[in-house]
Amino acid sequence: MASGAPPEAVAREGRFKPFAVAAGIAGAAALVVLNFAAVAVGGDRPWLLAFDLVLDLAVLGAGVGYVVRHGMRTEARTARMQAALDETQAQLAAIVDSAMDAIITVDQEQRIVLFNRAAQMMFGCPKDDALGAKLDRFIPARFREAHRAHIERFGEVGETRRRMGADLVLWALRTDGSEFPIEASISQVGGSDHRLFTVILRDITRRKQAEDALKRQQAELHELSARILEAREDEKTVIARELHDELGQLLTALKMDLAWLRERIPEGEVAGRARQMNAALDQTVTSVRRIAADLRPLMLDDLGLADAAGWLVEDFGRRSGVACRLEKPAEPRFDGVERNVATAVYRALQESLTNIGRHAEAKHAWILLAVEDGEVRLEVEDDGRGIPADALANTRSLGLKGMRERVLYLGGTVEVTGAPRGGTRVRVRVPLRPAPGGAAA
Ligand SMILES: Nc1ncnc2c1ncn2[C@@H]1O[C@H](COP(=O)(O)OP(=O)(O)OP(=O)(O)O)[C@@H](O)[C@H]1O
Ligand SMILES: [Mg+2]
Repeated sequence: MASGAPPEAVAREGRFKPFAVAAGIAGAAALVVLNFAAVAVGGDRPWLLAFDLVLDLAVLGAGVGYVVRHGMRTEARTARMQAALDETQAQLAAIVDSAMDAIITVDQEQRIVLFNRAAQMMFGCPKDDALGAKLDRFIPARFREAHRAHIERFGEVGETRRRMGADLVLWALRTDGSEFPIEASISQVGGSDHRLFTVILRDITRRKQAEDALKRQQAELHELSARILEAREDEKTVIARELHDELGQLLTALKMDLAWLRERIPEGEVAGRARQMNAALDQTVTSVRRIAADLRPLMLDDLGLADAAGWLVEDFGRRSGVACRLEKPAEPRFDGVERNVATAVYRALQESLTNIGRHAEAKHAWILLAVEDGEVRLEVEDDGRGIPADALANTRSLGLKGMRERVLYLGGTVEVTGAPRGGTRVRVRVPLRPAPGGAAA
């Protein structure tokens, strides 16, 4: 590192200088007086002339000695400073060269003045080829103009440091013509006429590959879970139809036969049994209807979302004892709702109500169903004990996760929060026209 005089010595030297200057001026004045005296009275006293001459020569010698000594000291100090500067520069160059990131410095014309070892390896370009070349050489042609403008703007704004590209992926160009993604920051030093820009950049090929793979996997998982939901929904529809059509008709036929029998048997024990059978048959028909409706609300297909939701809320209220209020607009507004959207909203309502029945201990529930701004909106609120903050973390609970998965796949959103009146509020929004590729449930 830089050596030079120790600070105490410099301080001492600084104190000494005014005395030396004052002494020099006093000595010079005395010498001038002596010279005048020697010239004035030297004719009578030759020894005075000789003394003056010797003194002049001595002063001249001392002056020359001082100048030579001062010159040598200055030269030695300059040499020491140069050595320290060289050492510092060598250390800086070693640090820059040992950096893992590529470091490239360009001047105002965007000509490269520094190109560290990592940059040489990253771009496959020796330092000697890079120095003096334009930075454009390492940027794909389609980005050059924008990049040049970016650096110029950066220079004008006067910011000292900035991340380049913000959220965009930047691309760089190797000498073999291949491109690779980078992450870069830029900094600047110097005045307006000799500004230097330093770009520090990192090859993020691996990270980008990993991110892309993760995104692909996530998309595949979403696709898979949507397909599973779709298959489940299809199976449920088939079973619901079988239950409703096949079993329902058989039960109706049984009921009719039983009614025929009851008309023909006299009052007594057998007639009593027949009445019990009729009551059991009524219960069975109700159960079959409910199971079929739970599996797949055929009403959803036959009557549409609003009526099916109405039936679901009413049925839930009756069975759970929770006082429910459903707010929904006139039916025609739901005309354009696609089948997969209607199914997702219906299932979300079904899950929310089931959760209220199972977990909330609520007395009231408020349900809002609307079509607004190109999306179906569903809100289900209760005045129960509220949902724990970590409710979604439970790996065994699938209801809310399934709801979210189904709605997200259609480009919608699900929010589960505490409700202003206490209890829980589930808010679901699904676009009326899901993006292409949405699952058809
Ligand atoms: N309305 C609610 N009030 C209070 N807690 C709720 C409510 N809804 C959900 N929770 C809490 O959130 C958890 C997760 O709900 P989720 O529907 O995902 O699973 P689950 O109902 O427990 O099981 P399933 O997978 O059968 O639906 C519940 O276990 C419950 O603790
Ligand atoms: Mg649940």
